[in-house]
Amino acid sequence: MSLPKSEYISDVWKDGLFKNKVVFCTGGGGTICSAQVRALVHLGADACIVGRNVEKTEKMAKSIATARSGAKVIGIGNVDVRKYEHLEAAVERCAKELGGVDFVIAGAAGNFLASINQLSVNAFKSVMDIDVLGSYHTAKATLPYLKESAAKHRVDSNSLQASPLGTGGRIIFISATIHYTGIPFQTHVAVAKAGIDALSHNIALEFGPLGITSNIIAPGPIANTEGVDRLLPSDVKQEAIKSQPLGRFGSVRDIADATVYLFSDSGSYVSGQVLVVDGASWRMPSG
Ligand code: HXC
Repeated sequence: MSLPKSEYISDVWKDGLFKNKVVFCTGGGGTICSAQVRALVHLGADACIVGRNVEKTEKMAKSIATARSGAKVIGIGNVDVRKYEHLEAAVERCAKELGGVDFVIAGAAGNFLASINQLSVNAFKSVMDIDVLGSYHTAKATLPYLKESAAKHRVDSNSLQASPLGTGGRIIFISATIHYTGIPFQTHVAVAKAGIDALSHNIALEFGPLGITSNIIAPGPIANTEGVDRLLPSDVKQEAIKSQPLGRFGSVRDIADATVYLFSDSGSYVSGQVLVVDGASWRMPSG
């Protein structure tokens, strides 16, 4: 399904910004990550999205490909981020078919509402495995390619000139804000997201000298997503929207625009950061 551009990217970015770039994305069949990838593809990138569900992932890849005529978008199903060998094979196929990996979005996540009492050991572990281990696997499998990309796109460190080849060697992890304050029934997710933040910060330090940047995007409540639909019952949703500092929930376009910024030349000196895209939602007093 093709979507109007205004739904997934704002008008400020230059067409062709990501020409000849390749993005690899886990969780790419989901609402937020697919918008991020769609925006990058619209601006010239080719893409590989992976997910557990074959039909959903392949269908989404076809839909994303409509964002730009001539775009190559591969959808690989049966990829469980908990299994390193799945990711390794998918990344290898991406690099072989599309010519490398310049950008990575680690977006695969698991979530449900459950109190600590209701959580079985396996339920807690499942979310840790999908979120933390899955993000680590994604980084480990893609870093060799990101190193190559960073080296190719590197410019003299004293120069403010952008590389004529554009940017490369960048990774974004999708996190959340719930672990800043704590929130009932989300212990498993909060612990996992804190782990993802730590992973990103360490990659930024360890791989910065190679020209790689690593950042977190922490979305707030984003309209029409599985996360919001699961966490907010419909009877309280309207009130929640009205009480937001900006009087609205975010849109997937807000997250896609943040992604474009971090992968563009404008984001070159931003690394080891958390970009919270939540309209100040998490700062609202709750008591
Ligand atoms: C309590 C639950 C549960 C629930 C599952 N479990 N749902 N426990 N309440 N509602 C338990 C199961 O009983 C089982 O434990 C264990 O979790 C694993 O469940 P399985 O279904 O066997 O595992 P699996 O198929 O791997 O599913 C993983 C999952 C599932 C995380 C449980 O929900 C999933 O696949 N989700 C992926 C999609 C998703 O959640 N997307 C939302 C992302 S939104 P036992 O002990 O019985 O074996 C998002 C936004 C975050 O991330 C924003 C935060 C604000």
